[in-house]
Amino acid sequence: MCGIVGAVSNRPVCDILVDGLQRLEYRGYDSAGVTILDGAGSASCVKRQGKVGILASALADTQFNGTTGIAHTRWATHGAPSERNAHPHQSGERFFVVHNGIIENHDDLRDALVRDGYVFSSDTDTEVIVHLIHQLSPHYADLRSTVQAVTQKLQGAYGMVVADSQSPDELVVSRSGSPIVIGYGENEHFIASDPLALLPVTRRFSVLEEGDSAHVTREAVRVFDVSGVEVIRAANDFDMKSDASDKAGYKHYMLKEIFEQPEAIRRTLEGRVQSGAVSADAFGAGSQALFSQVKHIQIVACGTSYNAGMVARHWIEQHVGISCSVEIASEFRYRQSFVHDGSLLVTLSQSGETADTLAALRLAQSLNYLASLTICNVVTSSLVRESDFVYLMKAGPEIGVASTKAFTVQLTALLMLCVAVCQAKQTNQTFRDEAVEALLQLPESIQQALTLAEPIKSLADKFADKHHALFLGRGDQYPIAMEGALKLKEISYIHAEAYAAGELKHGPLALVDADMPVVVVAPNNELLDKLKSNIEEVRARGSVMYVFADSDDHFESEPGLDVVNMAHANHLITPILFSIPLQFLSYYVALVKGTDVDQPRNLAKSVTVE
Ligand code: G6P
Repeated sequence: MCGIVGAVSNRPVCDILVDGLQRLEYRGYDSAGVTILDGAGSASCVKRQGKVGILASALADTQFNGTTGIAHTRWATHGAPSERNAHPHQSGERFFVVHNGIIENHDDLRDALVRDGYVFSSDTDTEVIVHLIHQLSPHYADLRSTVQAVTQKLQGAYGMVVADSQSPDELVVSRSGSPIVIGYGENEHFIASDPLALLPVTRRFSVLEEGDSAHVTREAVRVFDVSGVEVIRAANDFDMKSDASDKAGYKHYMLKEIFEQPEAIRRTLEGRVQSGAVSADAFGAGSQALFSQVKHIQIVACGTSYNAGMVARHWIEQHVGISCSVEIASEFRYRQSFVHDGSLLVTLSQSGETADTLAALRLAQSLNYLASLTICNVVTSSLVRESDFVYLMKAGPEIGVASTKAFTVQLTALLMLCVAVCQAKQTNQTFRDEAVEALLQLPESIQQALTLAEPIKSLADKFADKHHALFLGRGDQYPIAMEGALKLKEISYIHAEAYAAGELKHGPLALVDADMPVVVVAPNNELLDKLKSNIEEVRARGSVMYVFADSDDHFESEPGLDVVNMAHANHLITPILFSIPLQFLSYYVALVKGTDVDQPRNLAKSVTVE
């Protein structure tokens, strides 16, 4: 959450910083700010409430020539979203800081600083950092050692960049719990919380490890580990197009990302599913040997990624024949769970930085798991760096806050995981053959599902004035109903709940009336007849229903029942395919309602605080 950009250059940096913020806006967008050092001992700090565009307009009429600066786009944790709480925060006219994360002991630090005469001008936890830097700076030789001393006093999580107007040729960076990368240019260096911010200016990055701090000048980057020892953090070229974060002509990132799904799935399969099998190293070197010993899989994730895990539980237990539990990371990390013999921990995460998922992984490392595997989309992320085995999703950057392509790529990877584990155990050849064939067919089947955009668009009007909606599914489609409900509430702000259809009579049926649309995911599988009975129960209560059905389900639209037919596909991939119309439904309902599709209120893409 929150985005950080910094630059020490030989050219004016203001535009680079603001452009970087705009590319990071998916991380938080309630206020933004920039500090530019003028090189002669002064600094200009401009902050605005609202999106980065508002800050950009405020900066438009002023020419800033400073070649060193820091910038931030915020997702509020402590203190309301306002100009006063926007970063950078400053102490006097000298020190400035931008910070991601939460300083948990900020109350105590603030009290002590107030007693020492510091006056606070924001309600944030961050402001203690910059006053501490001011307070300690006379006692240390340079800015880096001052920052290192300050971090000893901080409890919580931070990724931060510090600027000193009296020392305009350097920035100091520190990370513990919030990601930071350093970007390398020609006689200039950059800092960001995500490489995406800096793609127009560099493709060469190093990633700071937990506890690292760095001293960044035009000429050099020096990195120090948690104990202050200078270390090398290798810089690598980052293989990503600068326009990967453009909308490419689509009205919203979300719509673009929905339409990118066939390509994203093709990329994730490429070189990994071939010759009728999942390649031995698809989940990392040595994964086959590991999988042969696995007796239980524990999946941990948050949000949409959790829903993907819930689908996988069905596949793993049914087709691999081993037990699987799925848990929300924020619950898993704070309870004493039972570790089954021969358990593999699998984390699912688009960003690889979700604080709770990362904490769950770190907890699991102290428990008796065989190993950890992450299925993750971001190569530089903490989950990727800290897990024993990695499956890199290759979905391409996902910018829309509501996850779409990451979900279907996660499901694809999870189905591949089932095949890979069966291969390693030499079991269930029938499933393996069927799954490999279905996976190879998947991009085309998704392409076909994308043609539903128009028919679903015409349904959206019927939802726009509703305040609640119910999503029903059974078996491996129940988590798809959960994901459909999550999408709808995230971006249209309609309260939506998912229920396993068999649970309807145990409560939710009491809510059903003409004002409560009921959405059903109904592929033609062994549970269809049961589901049809549930549909009748709802219809008898005068509800308005929307059924996403298999073309051979034989549902007919009639008053009070809208049917959208999906092309028939192999049952193994129907959860993936049926998520597409639900993505469209939430998108078009949000369009009708006029909500902010890509940046829904109060949410952020990458939740790096717990
Ligand atoms: C946030 C995002 C969701 C995402 C969840 C987990 O809530 O808005 O789209 O599913 O975090 O994120 P992760 O990056 O771990 O998949």
